[in-house]
Amino acid sequence: MSQVADFTDIDISAEELFNRINRSNDLLLLDVRNDEEYEAWKIEARNTPPTLHRFYGEFVEDEEAFVAHLPKDRPMVVVCAKGGASEYVADRLREFHNIPAVNLEGGMIAWGNFYRRQAVVTTEDYSIYQVDRPSRGCLSYILVSQGQAALIDPARHAQQYLDFLQEKDAELALILDTHAHADHISGGPALAQHTGAPYYLHPYDGIHPFDMLPATIAYEMLKDGMTFTLGKLTLQALHVPGHTLGLVNFLVTAPDGQAFFFTGDSLFINSFGRPDLGGQGQSWAPLVYQAIFEKIKSVVPGEALVLPGHYALHKEANEDGLYAMPLAELWQKNPDLQVGKDEFIEFVLSHLPTMPQQYIEIKRVNAGLSRPDEQRAMELELGKNVCALSTAY
Ligand SMILES: [Fe+2]
Repeated sequence: MSQVADFTDIDISAEELFNRINRSNDLLLLDVRNDEEYEAWKIEARNTPPTLHRFYGEFVEDEEAFVAHLPKDRPMVVVCAKGGASEYVADRLREFHNIPAVNLEGGMIAWGNFYRRQAVVTTEDYSIYQVDRPSRGCLSYILVSQGQAALIDPARHAQQYLDFLQEKDAELALILDTHAHADHISGGPALAQHTGAPYYLHPYDGIHPFDMLPATIAYEMLKDGMTFTLGKLTLQALHVPGHTLGLVNFLVTAPDGQAFFFTGDSLFINSFGRPDLGGQGQSWAPLVYQAIFEKIKSVVPGEALVLPGHYALHKEANEDGLYAMPLAELWQKNPDLQVGKDEFIEFVLSHLPTMPQQYIEIKRVNAGLSRPDEQRAMELELGKNVCALSTAY
């Protein structure tokens, strides 16, 4: 193992890269994927380092010319799709051109599959953890109380939750999806099948909104106002249709009086969930307004800590790296909550971004109507989520 600049190895893992770029801004990313791959998806973080995009083919064709144009003043992390081409480039840069370059191990695939877990709160009676998938801006949650655990919006890579629960000596008692996701494949049905824990979804989301076919996965039906007990925690379901017709939020109350509000794709820190991912933006936009400005506003206490299902920008995280904000503060700071009904709906309908075509297929997968292999599942999940809409972007 050779020491390259201040890297500890000639490869850097996705986790090490994430930690490093959030700690300091001293790197250069050299992305050698083709134009299409690069445009579709880039490495982003709270402090995204400068990134140079130069196609691998150019390196192979004329290495000297390629190297002549590289800045030499920063340690470099070379990135490609799977970590093969970038390993070759990093090796050559280091060994023949004296450039402090290392390879992102596993490339963008590894970056895409990297999750980080952080405690929101840990007390003697209960703990809540936020699981962040930085490449996609997807958040899921683990709740533990008195040896029982609940998962909210678990991601496709389900084993990580089971490993953690084993570590915590907790039994999976409850799996909740806030809605049928369009941007990523849920880990819920697989976890339910594997563990026997019940998987809950609102029945309105049990119908594929484009195919109009019923889900073939097994699920228990969520209902508005339904409550669950998890050790010393109480979870209450709140039906807030808009982003999807079956969107449900969970208000969790703890014995110490603290409240947590799991919003899925209704409210985000800086934005809100778009209403058109079921192809019905026009008729669902007013529902989004009602859900947020009427139902949530009247039912959920201001001190409840909002824990969203997504973020669009890494800067939405607080100082501790958590995506969380008390609801009362969100009413002050979220730019989209500062507008009136007509303005809100008009904005939504005139700013709907294009819906990625693979979202229709992802909804099929989440309904059990399609069963992709690992390669296809990975392709479907490529890139950042585009579930949010905001007047601020
Ligand atoms: Fe969503």
